Amino acid sequence: MNAQKTVSGPVSSHRSGPLNGTVTVPGDKSISHRSLILGGLAIGTTTVEGLLEGEDVLCTADAMRKLGATITRNEDGKWSVSGVGVGTLGEPDAVLDMGNSGTAARLLMGLVASAPFNTFFCGDASLHKRPMRRVALPLTEMGATITSRSGDRFPLCVTGRDLMPIEYELPVASAQVKSCVLLAGLDTPGITTVIEPKPTRDHTENMLRHFGAEVSVEVREDGGRVISLEGQQELKAAKVIVPGDPSSAAFLAVAAAIMPGSEVTIENVGLNPLRDGIFETLGDMGADIEILNIRIEAGEQVGDVRVKGGLLKGCVVPPERAISMIDEYPVLFVAASFASGTTTMLGLEELRVKESDRIAVMAEGLKACGVKLEELDDGLIIHGNALPPKGGATVKTELDHRIAMSFLVMGIGSEEPVTVDDGSVMETSFPGFSKLMNSLGAKIGTGPDA
Ligand code: S3P
Repeated sequence: MNAQKTVSGPVSSHRSGPLNGTVTVPGDKSISHRSLILGGLAIGTTTVEGLLEGEDVLCTADAMRKLGATITRNEDGKWSVSGVGVGTLGEPDAVLDMGNSGTAARLLMGLVASAPFNTFFCGDASLHKRPMRRVALPLTEMGATITSRSGDRFPLCVTGRDLMPIEYELPVASAQVKSCVLLAGLDTPGITTVIEPKPTRDHTENMLRHFGAEVSVEVREDGGRVISLEGQQELKAAKVIVPGDPSSAAFLAVAAAIMPGSEVTIENVGLNPLRDGIFETLGDMGADIEILNIRIEAGEQVGDVRVKGGLLKGCVVPPERAISMIDEYPVLFVAASFASGTTTMLGLEELRVKESDRIAVMAEGLKACGVKLEELDDGLIIHGNALPPKGGATVKTELDHRIAMSFLVMGIGSEEPVTVDDGSVMETSFPGFSKLMNSLGAKIGTGPDA
């Protein structure tokens, strides 16, 4: 992996005053991965502006280089990607290390399934625990062979070959599985179809179109979608502008919302309707939140998010909204801990198979910080009492960037500091998180007594 791993160690967050300022957050992780993958296949040179330079995305860059693409960072901070053309990936001469990234792992497994060679994959201890059967099943049905550790887990090898197109109905609502199948279909003759009973983030479809591919999306009466892609279309290089990641903006939005007197504007946030559930939910909790300047950039909806601090109230988050905010629950659990009354967040079984078991890890850390809650198989019920939680705990991050940032947000409003055992994990998705938060008035530093 070419990512520079920051030295691991504890980071603490101390009670601060109100947060104020106007900021931007790093580029969207999902869109960044896809820009490198599709750019790496397209004919010509793709320019990517605003690429997330986090470890997850750097793993994808490294893997695409091993598969033959030329990827460079220019002096102006934009990235150039020269692609190899659909169907002409080169056999990698080393194992592809996916680090912590489930997205890189599952999308690239799909990509190489139609390439006539063996591709070996590994990752970190978190990725080695994550379920890969969900992608192994459709890829095997298409004709690839997946040789893995027991339970279809990493490390594994994908033996690619000429595939058969399939029509695949997603058994779990997962954009990664959908994207894996579509990428496998890209160099497969005929029409590959994915049926999603519940719509998941559609960045792959949007970006395939942006690179000149024809993708048909039929929206069914029940809201489900049928996505079809004719294989062996050539992709043409494009200019990609990556918006700020709404999942990263969520940490700042919650931090501002729980600190009375705050006013924070986060500019240029991606607001794809399949990603923006957190902002709606904060609104349901009584947060003073406004979305300004809505516009479309490079096929994605973008806007500015302004949040003022105050007292939040508990609510029932509709389980059907979970898919549009699945990565934001850890920090929503923090918001609920500062609210008055009960917040019920269910329908979240997928949280148990993310970078960590986010229900269990958050429940343990929140309880250690004095929060009253009930843990269920599929979510948490948090009882807030309108007072700041006690804090004062050191929380295990379990190689999970969003756990680390959630508890650091908690610390800025808790009575006593909150420490996370390993701050380096934040490099996965949000390089410079502590510095950005501190520029708004937070007090986050390294070491238990920082
Ligand atoms: C992602 C999809 C989601 C999300 C992940 C990124 C993507 O995962 O949690 O952080 O970029 O496609 P699932 O596909 O497992 O829901």
